[in-house]
Amino acid sequence: MSERIPFTISRRSFLQMAGGTAAALSMPAILGACRGGGASGPIKIGVLLPYSDIYAVLGESITQAMEMYFAAIGNELAGRPIELIKEDTEINPDVAQQKARKLVEQDEVAFITGIVSSGVLGGLRDYFNDNKVLCICSNAGANALSRAAKTPYVWRTSFTNWMAPFAMGTWAANNIGKKAIISVPDYAAGEDNVTGFTNSFEAAGGEIVGVQRTPFPNMGDAAPFMAELADAGADLVYAFYSGGAAVTFVTAYNDFGLAGQLPLTCAGFMVEEDVLPAQGNAALGTKSTLHWSYVLDNAQNNQFKTDFKAFAGRDADVFALQGYDTAHVIDEMLRRTEGDTAVDKMVEALDGISFDSPRGPFKLDANSQAPEQSMYARDVQSVEGALRNTILSDLGLTVDPGDNSKG
Ligand code: BEZ
Repeated sequence: MSERIPFTISRRSFLQMAGGTAAALSMPAILGACRGGGASGPIKIGVLLPYSDIYAVLGESITQAMEMYFAAIGNELAGRPIELIKEDTEINPDVAQQKARKLVEQDEVAFITGIVSSGVLGGLRDYFNDNKVLCICSNAGANALSRAAKTPYVWRTSFTNWMAPFAMGTWAANNIGKKAIISVPDYAAGEDNVTGFTNSFEAAGGEIVGVQRTPFPNMGDAAPFMAELADAGADLVYAFYSGGAAVTFVTAYNDFGLAGQLPLTCAGFMVEEDVLPAQGNAALGTKSTLHWSYVLDNAQNNQFKTDFKAFAGRDADVFALQGYDTAHVIDEMLRRTEGDTAVDKMVEALDGISFDSPRGPFKLDANSQAPEQSMYARDVQSVEGALRNTILSDLGLTVDPGDNSKG
């Protein structure tokens, strides 16, 4: 069998080529079973990431760390050379759909990786599922992909959007106060953050006094949103923003006089290493929860930070960590299949992959198809002249419940 069956082949000629047994299968099933099959020649990997708009730096970090990992293993997987084919999704589900089709149907990649925005992942879910295209997602946390919209063809090496806000809801109610107002961008990941934080905050005796949804991807004039937060009568704010929007929000929070007055908590993306230099002292004292911190002191993290600095010329951030671990998962998956990229073999191989990551123990959970990993409560402080997320506590191993009723 050839390495891949191009989507452009007609159904009739494919069935003639494939013989009688193929006639019983649907076309997506046939294409899914055959794409990338075999175990020789280069492995093409489709990379769908934002290289423009507010999440551009996230895409760059993921890409550079993947390239760093692959370079360190000689740009070969299971004895086959690797070719990364990168496409810019912007933050646009329609653009991402076109790029995914191009990668699968023209470039004939063996599988897809990348995807930062939950909106983009949600838009591609049916394409991956219906055509049996494996996606190893290195960021977008949309809860639905581990729950009602789960498909065997989407696995995550990153997190689900339930993890950070659920951990923070409990932590904030126990450590800061019982009245919270929430601020999120108006898209799928924002909604996941509202639900996750609300569920655990209320379970710990807290009350949500308001939910603010700001325009996505660009908030526009932040002043009215800051005024609403100031006037809400809350003990604390919980927010979810990332990339350019995180710089906008944290800077506005400080400019409006809220920093240091009204405790700010968040999913840790909002004060990650990619944005801290631009936020400066405005971010000091922000409390967050996340599955990694620059200051985590373990052998894997210390090596990763040193290597990334040498490779990229800048400090690592959580998105680089996720790109690095994604490459590690791909490496392990193809070792297990002995280089065979038949989709069902790759899916089977993903189950239970585990290793010591720079984030701590990492294991792919078969139920949520996302990592089981530790969550850390963090605090932005100045450490040896740089702003870092110091670790307040290790909140322990966390796995998505895979069920809306549990969080
Ligand atoms: C998301 O859309 O799921 C997302 C984007 C940026 C950071 C974290 C999550």
